Order: sequence, then C-alpha cells, then structure tokens
Amino acid sequence: MSWLITGGAGYIGSHITRAMRAAGEQVVVLDDLSTGSVDRVGDAHLVVGSILDGDLLRRTMRSAGVRGIVHVAAKKQVAESVAKPLHYYRQNVEGLRVLLEAAVAHDVESLVFSSSAAVYGSPDVALVEEDHPCLPVNPYGATKLVGEQMIADVAAATGLRYANLRYFNVAGTGDPTLTDQGISNLVPLVFDRLSNRRSPHIYGGDYDTPDGTCIRDFIHVADVASAHVAAARALRSGEVTGLTANIGRGQGVSVREMVETIRRVTGTDQAAWAEPVVLPRRPGDPAQVVASSTRLQSVLGWRASEDTEQMVRSAWAGWVAMGRTAPAAAAVG
Ligand SMILES: NC(=O)c1ccc[n+]([C@@H]2O[C@H](COP(=O)([O-])OP(=O)(O)OC[C@H]3O[C@@H](n4cnc5c(N)ncnc54)[C@H](O)[C@@H]3O)[C@@H](O)[C@H]2O)c1
Repeated sequence: MSWLITGGAGYIGSHITRAMRAAGEQVVVLDDLSTGSVDRVGDAHLVVGSILDGDLLRRTMRSAGVRGIVHVAAKKQVAESVAKPLHYYRQNVEGLRVLLEAAVAHDVESLVFSSSAAVYGSPDVALVEEDHPCLPVNPYGATKLVGEQMIADVAAATGLRYANLRYFNVAGTGDPTLTDQGISNLVPLVFDRLSNRRSPHIYGGDYDTPDGTCIRDFIHVADVASAHVAAARALRSGEVTGLTANIGRGQGVSVREMVETIRRVTGTDQAAWAEPVVLPRRPGDPAQVVASSTRLQSVLGWRASEDTEQMVRSAWAGWVAMGRTAPAAAAVG
C-alpha cells in the first residue's frame, strides 16, 4: 500500500514525507505548489495538482495503490483568512470534501489530518486538553474545525479510520533544505528583523503572564513528523481510530523568552539595535495557549524530543542556507 501525502512539498509536509520514507513507507505526494516547492520533495513521486481536482485524486489513488492519506495541504495564514474567508473555505473545506469523496470511492482505509490549535480559539486554561470547547476566533481555525467534523461524519458512515492532529506552534527544521520559507511565524519574523539590523517586535507586554508577553507551545517540525509516522502506522494496524490529539510539548515559552533565545543563537544578543520593541497587543492574541500533550503519549507512545534551542538553531541554519542573512547582521556578535 502507499500513502498519499497532500501538501508534501510544503514546510511540514516535506518533513512528514521524508520521515514516512525513512520509516520504510511508500508515498506519493500531491501538491499544487502554491506555497510548496519541488526541491523539497526530493526523489519522492510528485503529482502536481490541486486537492480540488477529484479526477486527478482518483487517478492518483488508483495508480499508486493508495490506502492511506496524510492530508497536510491547506491555506494557513490567519490574517489572510480574515480578509479572504471564502478562499479559505474553498481550499480547506471544499478541498477536504473533494478529497474525502475520492477517498471513499477508492476505499481508502486511513486518514491523518493536519489540524491546528487554532480550533480552540482563546482557551482560558493553563493546559489545553482535547475536550476543551472549540471556539475558533478566525476563519482559518473555523475551517480546521469544520474539517475535523466532516472527517468524523464520513468515518461514522464508512468506517474510515482517522487521526485529527492539532499542531501548536511549529518551528525549526529537520534539514536546511526543508526550511519554512514563509515569514509569518514568530521565529522567521524575528530572523527577518535581525537580518535587516532591525529590532524584533513583541506584540503586547501587559498580559497576565510572568513577563507580560504571550505564552505559546513551540514544537519542532521533526517531532511533528514523527507523530505522523506513529499515527499513520497505528491507523493502518487498526490499533487506533477516531483519534483527536494535540501535538505540542506541554511546555509554555513566552514570546520574550523565545526572542532572547533567537538573539543568543544568532549572535545578536549584545547588539543594542537588536533589543526587542514592545508594541501594543494584536487583536485576538490569547495570553496563553499551551497543549496538554498526554493523549498522544498514552495512545501512540509518542513524545517530543527537541527543545526550543534546537528549534531555533536548526531554523537559523536553514535561514542562512537560504541566503537570507544580510552580511552585516551575521557578523554582529
Ligand atoms: N506551520 C504551523 O505552525 C502550523 C500550525 C498548525 C497547523 N498547521 C497546518 O499544517 C499544514 C501545513 O502547513 P505548513 O506550515 O507546512 O504550510 P505550507 O504552506 O508550507 O504547506 C502547505 C502545502 O500545501 C500545498 N497546497 C495548498 N493548497 C493546496 C491545494 N489546494 N492542493 C494541493 N496542494 C495545496 C502548498 O503548495 C504547500 O506545499 C496546514 O494544513 C496548516 O494548516 C501548520
């Protein structure tokens, strides 16, 4: 059997593709390359096209003997989802519906779905458990929640085995060639500022947290990938189904702490211009979002192994390998 990995040319999908192959699984990647790149797929079989193309999906599933799907492809920018909600519903919800229709027609047995902590919205608890009410605060989070529900409904009707995996803040790289090329998450945003000799921005310094800045749960992308391998195998063996689980470390790190780690790793911690500037809060940013990570540990025996230092070091190596460091900034010590 083989696994169809949608979005396998993207940041997280390419790590999953590599980890699945390293574990001896056969894979075929389907990606429209809207934010992905061919280079990341290596010599895995790549089909270029959209999950909205049902005919292409059916042909791919038939010719590759697909029995399982890891559905990673999606649009993921929160602000863009607020500005273009229908685009997000089309890509993330309609795209998943078309994929499920093809999967059911082809008797696919297992599905792993890339969900997000964004389904919780602004949780008011120290550690977010999976049973916490889901009240997304933006269209992106809403599309992920609808996706989870659609999968559960199809599973109830067909016996499809599934795992909805809710990622928290993904960072780092398992290989410089697979680095996140977008500049939308905290780590690349700070790299971008520092590379241009500009001070990093922190949004909000007056939250009810120990240092006043938001607290998040950062998880290394290689750990995210290993969780997918474990989930895919447990689904295939029939040992697990109907799983909804967080992927996080269960440890909160404040934005200020993360910025300080980045300054140290990039050698900019002594530079006056690299002092972070605290700006007003951004609307909709919850004070603290940290995963309870016990469910994935108890169901799959999976646990995260990489810490924030390793996330930042690997991400910086990838950033430099992409040629994004301004020479002047790199030399600052
Ligand atoms: N990066 C994070 O911190 C994070 C956190 C939570 C959840 N997620 C989820 O993880 C998944 C991957 O995120 P990423 O950070 O790797 O993003 P990414 O943009 O790097 O990867 C998405 C991939 O999907 C492809 N794609 C998009 N629309 C497609 C379509 N209609 N048909 C085929 N391919 C399509 C893109 O070309 C790209 O290769 C997404 O589902 C995202 O919502 C990411």
